[in-house]
Amino acid sequence: MKFFVDTGNIGEIRELQEAGLIDGVTTNPSLVLKADRPIKELLEEICEVTDGPVSGEVASLELDDMMREGKILSDIAPNIVIKLPLTLPGLKACKRFTEQGLKTNVTLCFSANQAILAAKASATYISPFVGRLDDTNINGMDLIADIRRIYDNYSFETQILAASIRTGNHVREAALVGADVVTVPAATLKALVKHPLTDKGLKSFVADWKSTGQTIK
Ligand code: E4P
Repeated sequence: MKFFVDTGNIGEIRELQEAGLIDGVTTNPSLVLKADRPIKELLEEICEVTDGPVSGEVASLELDDMMREGKILSDIAPNIVIKLPLTLPGLKACKRFTEQGLKTNVTLCFSANQAILAAKASATYISPFVGRLDDTNINGMDLIADIRRIYDNYSFETQILAASIRTGNHVREAALVGADVVTVPAATLKALVKHPLTDKGLKSFVADWKSTGQTIK
């Protein structure tokens, strides 16, 4: 399973990239707002930090405008993935970009039927939003499992990018049900390293080592 970081914060991306923990980056309009930077400049800098897939989202809802914006975004760097909303114009744009040899990420997916349409439109990635479904008392991870089963039934090549990931449990479950990618906020990703027994064990090893009076040289 691949790890993308879901952020527009360059410092976070740089740290995780240097640690070798991420395979790519996803952004969305809310994350661009949070970064408070021009989208082209931001995506350009992210693509300088990583050569993994970097999703940049179009802002318009009309097909022609999406095509124009997607082209502008994809010209930023070869690793840009054009992120498109799961609407009819978004799916049409997805098909056209795929035919042009460009990578796409169809976002805001909340049902298996939507995911089937994204696969029919030859999306590179489908982004089902796990956390936002959980917020409505629908189990978001069940959707990931359903899409996995459907895509495998028909050998659809679209990759399942589990999005709106909020917890370590989401990451574990996404891996168990066979998501191809999870996109995770930096804080959630870094928290995966923590375990109280690791901390406890380390504390006693440090104390015992000190008692040996030794140094490794
Ligand atoms: C995915 O591509 C989205 O950017 C993101 O995962 C949304 O997460 P949220 O529901 O926490 O905003």
